[in-house]
Amino acid sequence: IDIKTLRDVTGGVTTIDPGYKNTGSCESGITFLDGEKGILRYRGYSIEELAEKADFLEVAYLLIFGELPTAAQLNKFDKDIKEESHVDEDMKKILDGFPKSAHPMGVLSSLTSALIAFNPGSVDVASEEAMYNAIVKIMAKFPVLAAWTMRKRKSLPLDYGDNSLGYVENIHKMMFSRPNKTYEPNRIVNDALDKLLILHADHEQNCSTSTVRIVGSSHAGLFASLSAGISALWGPLHGGANQAVIEMLEAIKADGGDTAKYINKAKDKDDPFRLMGFGHRVYKNFDPRAKIIKKSAEEVLGNLGIEDPVLDIAKGLASVALEDDYFVKRKLYPNVDFYSGIIYRSLGIPTEMFTVMFALGRLPGWIAQWREMRLRKEPIGRPRQIYVGENLRSFVKVEDR
Ligand code: ACO
Repeated sequence: IDIKTLRDVTGGVTTIDPGYKNTGSCESGITFLDGEKGILRYRGYSIEELAEKADFLEVAYLLIFGELPTAAQLNKFDKDIKEESHVDEDMKKILDGFPKSAHPMGVLSSLTSALIAFNPGSVDVASEEAMYNAIVKIMAKFPVLAAWTMRKRKSLPLDYGDNSLGYVENIHKMMFSRPNKTYEPNRIVNDALDKLLILHADHEQNCSTSTVRIVGSSHAGLFASLSAGISALWGPLHGGANQAVIEMLEAIKADGGDTAKYINKAKDKDDPFRLMGFGHRVYKNFDPRAKIIKKSAEEVLGNLGIEDPVLDIAKGLASVALEDDYFVKRKLYPNVDFYSGIIYRSLGIPTEMFTVMFALGRLPGWIAQWREMRLRKEPIGRPRQIYVGENLRSFVKVEDR
């Protein structure tokens, strides 16, 4: 049956699947995920191999354009991005309008949307060339904006980066450079960030990616679609979980480190508390990203000579949960966000910036999914519903109600 005419064949039958637990929204050739076996691959390459051997910019290229770049292709991509790394001075006025206490994710989503006004050409992506230009622009400007959201909170002058640095080093510099101090790149920090960004780079049709695709399906443009995706990512059930995990671990620590108490709270159906960083819609086995991040957290903390009691609490919590019937029966395992915040913390990244870091990593995945959707000329996303409201009734004037 041709899916396009399915409704005609079935006489207009509509399926309902809240949360799309069993419904595919598209065909995609970008990311393969087997949740039962705990397998994740970008364009056919295993996440384990990419995390170990690749750098973030080449993974971005792979996701967006489908193949690992040659040296010449990577050079051109890097150069094109660097040439677009300026942000219009008037964007600063928008940033200035936010209170310092504003959550960086809200600011980032707004600034990404505001970029459209300064780059109107980015909306019309009728040709592949126009699409490429929009992609390069956002790959360049997004890290600048992301770093600004942190500098604003710290009242630091804005930094436009240094084009002699690599993509990830530059992100770190734009966040951490200080006036009158020479910025010194740090290999351990850079490698840790590179790995984290790669692990977050795509994850097929998750909440934020589906948002990007559905907004983009109305031809609203790449930046508008990304801005919507950032908002979707912000929620604690999605990317916001990395911030929620550290806040939870801190609360457990402050409460005397009684992990059993919090495991019981998570199991109690009358208590809204959930073990943040646990469970996943698709993984019913170990999240392969969590495995890599757990190992990386121990290495990074060791290399930086940091002892963080919160890592011990996380490990304790995970080992109790993994033995507990409630979690075993529901196949709830640590997800990507369970350990990532511990690494971000060790790198000096403030808690409220964790989800921004996630967004920086997810950017190429969102772009790749948006590009695929446009190239495949997918129809506008428009789910149906089952109406459960009132039947036809007559209007009653206000004085008679
Ligand atoms: N703690 C306690 N119980 C949980 C948890 C948890 N973290 N996660 C799921 N459960 C329970 C549910 O209460 C439900 O139990 P029931 O069958 O007795 O009703 C069962 O496990 C299935 O959970 P659902 O909520 O139906 O699973 P769903 O696929 O809709 O949700 C989600 C997945 C949102 C990730 C959920 O596991 C959760 O809230 N986890 C905590 C937040 C989190 O870590 N989010 C990050 C996910 S990764 C990412 O987006 C980057």
